[in-house]
Amino acid sequence: MSKIFDLIRQALPELAVTDDASALVAYGKDWTHHWTPAPCLVAWPRSIEEVQEIVRFAAKHDVAIVPSGGRTGLSGGAVAKDGEIVLSLDKLNRILSFNDVDQTMTVEAGAVLQVVQEAAAQHGLQYPVDLGARGSCTIGGNIATNAGGIRVLKYGNTREWIAGITIVNAQGEVVELNKGLIKNSSGYDLRHLMIGSEGTLGIIVQAELKLTKPLPESQVMLLALPDFASVVQAFTSLRAGLSLQAFEFFTDVALKRVIEHGASNPFDDTYPYYVVTEFDADEEGALKLFESGLEQGWIVDGALSASNEHKVKFWHLRESITESIAPLKPYKNDISIRISRLRDFLSDAEVLFARNYPDFEVIWFGHIGDGNLHISITKPTALSAEEFATHCAAATNELAALITTHGGSISAEHGIGLLKRDYLSSTRSDEEIAMMQAVKAALDPAGLLNPGKIFAA
Ligand code: FAD
Ligand code: LAC
Ligand code: ZN
Repeated sequence: MSKIFDLIRQALPELAVTDDASALVAYGKDWTHHWTPAPCLVAWPRSIEEVQEIVRFAAKHDVAIVPSGGRTGLSGGAVAKDGEIVLSLDKLNRILSFNDVDQTMTVEAGAVLQVVQEAAAQHGLQYPVDLGARGSCTIGGNIATNAGGIRVLKYGNTREWIAGITIVNAQGEVVELNKGLIKNSSGYDLRHLMIGSEGTLGIIVQAELKLTKPLPESQVMLLALPDFASVVQAFTSLRAGLSLQAFEFFTDVALKRVIEHGASNPFDDTYPYYVVTEFDADEEGALKLFESGLEQGWIVDGALSASNEHKVKFWHLRESITESIAPLKPYKNDISIRISRLRDFLSDAEVLFARNYPDFEVIWFGHIGDGNLHISITKPTALSAEEFATHCAAATNELAALITTHGGSISAEHGIGLLKRDYLSSTRSDEEIAMMQAVKAALDPAGLLNPGKIFAA
């Protein structure tokens, strides 16, 4: 039993806390698995006041806090490896209110995304942020990472859907940011500073979310394509002819892993690239584009959904990639490149991997419509975990240099966390990093909130 655990039980006897070893392991990590979890305790506040009390306790005893949502993060942002208090938002998960006139919904930060989506649907509206982790990730985590997902090309990132946020800051004060206003030109928009801050500037306790009309009836097409240039060609052609809701791609290597994980192969042959695209229902328009793709050679096979069952099946091939490869503990990259440079970037990256890391299995997939490529590298059996980590660090250095050349970003939607901390300067200038560090020092001078994430503590 740690000293801090004894002290917090004495100071806050009503607070739900544990130092049970299995809870420390479960709550000290996210989906990254690269670091050994070692928090000193896990606390589950049931009210904003309890969040404030934990922050004041932590400040008094000089112990850091890791804000924790659904722990589905892929950059180590929710990892607690240095004796921190894990402040879990699990019990602050209520849907608080719905505002019909403003079309907003106020929720606690620990509300699970899917629960929020379903609550919006009950009011005949939609909360349009959507991602594969919807059943476990939380609104607080989505805001803290500015989560993207599968509908960004139509609706934008989480940032677009936040009318207001309530936080507890590093001083233990409750601060309401933006108050749900559409227009608010009164100084710095601290709401947007908080969005994407990965738990380093404040603990999000509530959010007012914007809602919108439900998506129109849709259809899904699954396409097989001969090369990556055709993926980009298919995107621009389908974007011109249909009203796209999503446009996602993956490679044959990704499909192989998903099939090994239990999915059935919809194709008789193997093709290098696949696309899953969803659009406002338009059978005639879709078939016309499909045929012209076949004629011109940028589509080689495919199918159009004729039922909801088909849609679910097509989407499953794309959405279950992360889960299917998780047992392999892959090293992940989450790259942002403008769409017009995707082709050149990918061919340079493929040359880089083939030349320097021929034994690596490299799994490409992602959100083409947003210029967001996910690159997962699995460990060759011949390498130890340490050797693999060393190789991945070297590979990421080279990849980061390539990203700089192509004007992209080392993190599109997963955040920097611990995983990409050493590569921040490939995307951000020295001046930008200095400004970010000045903000951190001003808002959290004692380094209480998620220290070591985004930049070294
Ligand atoms: P956590 O992992 O718990 O935390 C993430 C970060 O937010 C940490 O830095 C943490 O300290 C901070 N944080 C959490 N809650 C709070 C709070 N209340 N206040 C302050 N800081 C907080 N991401 C995408 O963007 N797009 C995708 O398409 C996508 N698909 C995914 C699919 C799968 C199968 C998985 C496992 C993950 C996927 N992700 C995706 C990554 C992940 O789901 C998102 O980053 C998500 O937003 C994290 O939410 P969470 O509640 O799990 O946060
Ligand atoms: C996805 C996660 C990895 O797009 O962001 O599936
Ligand atoms: Zn993604």
